[in-house]
Amino acid sequence: MNERDSEAVAAMLRARGYRIVDSEHDCDVLLLNTCSVRDAAEQKAIGKAGHVAARHRKNPDFVLGILGCMAQNRGAELLDKLPDVDLIVGTQKFHQVPDYLDNLRAAREAGVPIAETIVDIGEEAGSQNTIRDHLDTEEKQVTAFVSIQQGCNMDCHFCIVPKTRGDERSRPMEDIVAECRQLAAKGVKEITLLGQIVTSYGRRDYVHTGGVSPFVQLIEKVHEIDGIERIRFTSPHPRGFKDDLVEAYGRLPKLCEYVHLPMQSGSDRILKAMNRPYSSARYKEIVDALRAVRPDMYFSTDIIVGFPGEAEEDFEQTRALFEACNYDMAYIFKYSIRSGTVAADLGDQIPDEVKEHRNQVLLDILRKNSERRNASLLGTVEEVLVEGPDKTGQRFTGRTRGNRVCIFDAHPRLVGQLVPLRIDRVSVSSLYGELVLSGVGETVDA
Ligand code: 5AD
Repeated sequence: MNERDSEAVAAMLRARGYRIVDSEHDCDVLLLNTCSVRDAAEQKAIGKAGHVAARHRKNPDFVLGILGCMAQNRGAELLDKLPDVDLIVGTQKFHQVPDYLDNLRAAREAGVPIAETIVDIGEEAGSQNTIRDHLDTEEKQVTAFVSIQQGCNMDCHFCIVPKTRGDERSRPMEDIVAECRQLAAKGVKEITLLGQIVTSYGRRDYVHTGGVSPFVQLIEKVHEIDGIERIRFTSPHPRGFKDDLVEAYGRLPKLCEYVHLPMQSGSDRILKAMNRPYSSARYKEIVDALRAVRPDMYFSTDIIVGFPGEAEEDFEQTRALFEACNYDMAYIFKYSIRSGTVAADLGDQIPDEVKEHRNQVLLDILRKNSERRNASLLGTVEEVLVEGPDKTGQRFTGRTRGNRVCIFDAHPRLVGQLVPLRIDRVSVSSLYGELVLSGVGETVDA
């Protein structure tokens, strides 16, 4: 979500005549987009901003802005720690950044001293429709994030997002589809539909038709677009993951067999304390139903270890469900107190070393799963979407439908193409192989 927001701000600035430079050391304007989900993310952003602010001394034209969730969460209070920040812009005001920058720079050029930082963290009706601009770069764009919704009304007791992102608002379906069509026309092959709780998409604006939810209706419409070959989404909520969405995997081949389904905990007692309205049994039922429709499904999840009151037996239930779901990928977080959330005021906070231990237990399982999955791909031919040069610039990188990163030799003209790759070497995190001319999906003797 943050990457998408940053891209949109960059695109708007580029349209105003600003140039995006390769290195932060060469810029006159530095905008930090920030996350508030855990305290560590905020501390990192504050550290970075403090360090960068020193540049004002050398370059009086320098502009430093803090955007996004931490700006929204802390507002002008940030100036206590970071007095040299010029711009603080919240999550509903990203589209104002170009005007604020122009104003700041014009005032400085005119020699008008601006004593005060511009702070805008207000709410704005319709702001879910403002994140839509994509960067027009020379490089070919192969994959794209498309924002379908802003905010969240779920009130999970650990989570700061309803405060930083505001009420749940959906973009009109036709706007989203039009954006996807434009992206397809530019050569984009893979779309990731983005929202805090995509399974609730459009629930106030559209009706179910024939048992099909507005979110699945949206997927169907994107599926019809020629040129779009792969569809992903993040993040769904188990509560909204109903049969219509499970069945969609059976009939919509562009829907990639990779589902990120946040579990948070495998203990019903803790799920209740988190205000997550599903049971561990229901969660497992969704995973099983998806595997029944697509036996080759890849799963990833979000887990919080050390939520207040999480006893050894609660964690044991999380570990057991984590093991049973056989995840290919997971984001495991140590619970972080977020002031203003319900859980922040709960007693029985879990000591750090216990969180660390539980974190390690799950990471060990994940590493084994990932190794096992990757080993099972040795000798097979996978469909890979070529995204561009890898980090070294020597080879190319792309991902399988199951979202595994692949590294291989290719010709630049294959960027943006779906190609068959025979996997001949694997690590925990990546697959390595050679392009083949034979069909995709067949198994070749290793
Ligand atoms: N502490 C730790 N992890 C958190 N998450 C959200 N809030 C917290 C918190 N206070 C995790 C959840 C969520 C992911 C984006 O971040 O697992 O799904």
